[in-house]
Amino acid sequence: MPKYRIALMPGDGIGQDVMEAARIVLDKIALDAEYVPADIGWEFWRTEGEPLPQRTIDALKTCNCALFAAITSKPKEEAESELIPELQGKGLVYRSPIVRMRQMFNLYTNLRPCKAFPGNPLNFRDDVDLVVFRENTEGLYAGVEFYPLPEEVRAALRAHNPRMGAFDDVPGDDIALSCRIFTRAGCRRIVHRAFEYAQAHGYPTVTLVEKPNVIRETSGLMVREARQIAAEYPNIELWETNVDAMAMWLVKNPQDYGVLVSSNMFGDIISDLAAQLVGGLGFASSGNIGDSFAVFEPTHGSAPKYAGLYKANPTAMLLAVKLMLDWLGEGDTASALEQAIAGVIAEEKVRTYDLGGDASTLEMAQAAAERL
Ligand code: NAI
Ligand code: MG
Repeated sequence: MPKYRIALMPGDGIGQDVMEAARIVLDKIALDAEYVPADIGWEFWRTEGEPLPQRTIDALKTCNCALFAAITSKPKEEAESELIPELQGKGLVYRSPIVRMRQMFNLYTNLRPCKAFPGNPLNFRDDVDLVVFRENTEGLYAGVEFYPLPEEVRAALRAHNPRMGAFDDVPGDDIALSCRIFTRAGCRRIVHRAFEYAQAHGYPTVTLVEKPNVIRETSGLMVREARQIAAEYPNIELWETNVDAMAMWLVKNPQDYGVLVSSNMFGDIISDLAAQLVGGLGFASSGNIGDSFAVFEPTHGSAPKYAGLYKANPTAMLLAVKLMLDWLGEGDTASALEQAIAGVIAEEKVRTYDLGGDASTLEMAQAAAERL
């Protein structure tokens, strides 16, 4: 029996193209793995009313981890109108399958390395090496939201916090409320992961990116827990910054930072900023990691206008494979893959359109595979 079972979810659009690119590299590595293809995405929403079918969830439960490429998603009304006629008018509601996977499998760590490869013409600077740890299951994305605001909810808030009185005159129909929920355990585990990573990879600092001067209770809890955890790592300095200032510092002096840790929404925003510093969507990979399961993905979407044209840069997808190999404990293979990718970029010969070249997705993956 192979050592690993790995689900492959290509999804939609260029997801198919870059997953094919990943297979070229996986086949060259000859990882001792069985690959389990699994359905996800728009096609399954349209035809089954479910972008993450139960058979996919069942398959994921039999696997060590999964590689996911990209899906298409559209706003509520458009989603409904694209359902096949048999499924229309049944009250089906589209929900992001990737958000569901994160919550269903408790993939609380979103790991996003953003490292500048030498020779990448899209680098903002050549000395950027950032790793963002974003809390992936709670915070503002926990989904506890209200519109219109139910009177019971308003009354409860009013009873416990006089500041709610400022909105007494506003009718329920004119207020929307999204709750920012932090748990002590949630704060602790993401900060722990960040420090463990800094320790293992020799980063001298961990920067906590929050806003405790204004969002006192949630950011405040995160800061207090982070200070406690930092005390367990005397060799690593905890830097505390406010998210707004951090956006400025990341553009001004990104080379000064290493590991960053933040809550769900701030982490989402900061990680897109960090990704752009090292070449943007074609280079940004991420891991959604829990205690015993993980899903690795490029962070770009399905780029419908390039679907099936094999124009997309496969680097983000290949770096997702690299993250998966690290997580599986195949560190040597992971490093070799990263060096192969770096070699292709530095050589400036085989390049996709975004890098100014005319190589195809598969040619670029092939060039990396040849270096392995
Ligand atoms: P997108 O990431 O799909 O593409 C935006 C543009 O970035 C593309 O048109 C292309 O010019 C460029 N691009 C993206 N990936 C690239 C690559 N690997 N190489 C070279 N260039 C690349 O974002 P967009 O257009 O906003 O969304 C398209 C669809 O993807 C939407 O339905 C959206 O909901 C979905 N989406 C899915 C995500 C996921 O699966 N995790 C993430 C983001 C968007
Ligand atoms: Mg994002």
